[in-house]
Amino acid sequence: MTHPIPQTMLAARITAYGAPQVIVLDARPVPRPKAGQVLVRVHAAPVTAGDARLRSGDVPRGMGLLLRIAIGWRKPRVAPGLAFSGEVVALGAGVDSLSLGQRVFGVKGFKGGAHAQYVTMDAAGMILPLPDGLTHEQGAAFFFGGITAAEFLLDKAHLKAGERVLIAGATGAVGSAAVQIAAHMGAQVTATASAQNLDLARQLGASTALDYRAGPVQGQFDVIVDVMGTYLWAGAKPLLSPHGRLCLITADLGSTLAAALRPHRAGRRVIGGTAVESRAKMQRLINLHLAGAYTPVLGDVLPFSQLPRAHAIADSFHKRGNLVVTMAP
Ligand SMILES: NC(=O)c1ccc[n+]([C@@H]2O[C@H](COP(=O)([O-])OP(=O)(O)OC[C@H]3O[C@@H](n4cnc5c(N)ncnc54)[C@H](OP(=O)(O)O)[C@@H]3O)[C@@H](O)[C@H]2O)c1
Repeated sequence: MTHPIPQTMLAARITAYGAPQVIVLDARPVPRPKAGQVLVRVHAAPVTAGDARLRSGDVPRGMGLLLRIAIGWRKPRVAPGLAFSGEVVALGAGVDSLSLGQRVFGVKGFKGGAHAQYVTMDAAGMILPLPDGLTHEQGAAFFFGGITAAEFLLDKAHLKAGERVLIAGATGAVGSAAVQIAAHMGAQVTATASAQNLDLARQLGASTALDYRAGPVQGQFDVIVDVMGTYLWAGAKPLLSPHGRLCLITADLGSTLAAALRPHRAGRRVIGGTAVESRAKMQRLINLHLAGAYTPVLGDVLPFSQLPRAHAIADSFHKRGNLVVTMAP
């Protein structure tokens, strides 16, 4: 059931790099879909580590200059909000792949704009039907960590059944997806998390869950997913099996460049870089969900009006699963 489309909507804007208070909600005209586009009334959108970093400018060492060259010197030129879940409320000319009232979810990527009550999307772009059984909150939580985990584990590290995997930082957006996907692949998963999240790590499929504050991890692993860049090559090397792969989800500039320039080290491989979303990767993650391999972990759910508070939580890098804001109708 569709609602009348208002003239104006609330949309987030970042006034400068800085603390969560730099996020403001403005009244803005509701965009009109062009030919080939749809207008989506957003029900929920994630507030991710990526949103927090783009707003604060707080990125791993050496990356700050690159960030500012890419997205703006004094303030980010990108609109906030990387992904959304909602309902199609208007169709541009020539759209027949989606229909009015259809539940959809999608990825805006780094151009952003999903922290708004309405978004336009190319119907052939990164927007797909939301599977039955997923709420809009889960739809909002679906892609950010899931696409990253799948890309590093499946495309880059070529994880195989029976391999030993260490997921260091296992219960945030990326880690909670990585544990599920690795366990589904038949890997033997060791997870690290803080003490209060160890049960969650086991529920997601880790056979061993260790408190990262209790002491160093022992053992040999075929794949290490270094979610927060707390291992890097020096810390991971003694734990990597002879053909082991290290996935640097977070890394400073030096480690990222070294991974690109010298990926092969002592028979092992160091993998860095940024996951890039695509419609095909979205569909693969949906297929993993339909196969029972992945369901996003939903943590805090806040109203859109509390977007600055949501950013403050995302700033902590101790989220439980995914944090989502829900838009008022
Ligand atoms: N390369 C890419 O393409 C890509 C894509 C997405 C995200 N990222 C980056 O990946 C990182 C994680 O993103 P996210 O969305 O998963 O963040 P998140 O939801 O905030 O989760 C962070 C996770 O790291 C754990 N953690 C925090 N401090 C730790 C420490 N000192 N040692 C071990 N674990 C620690 C937390 O565990 P507890 O809460 O249990 O303490 C939590 O599980 C961010 O730096 C983000 O920018 C990179």
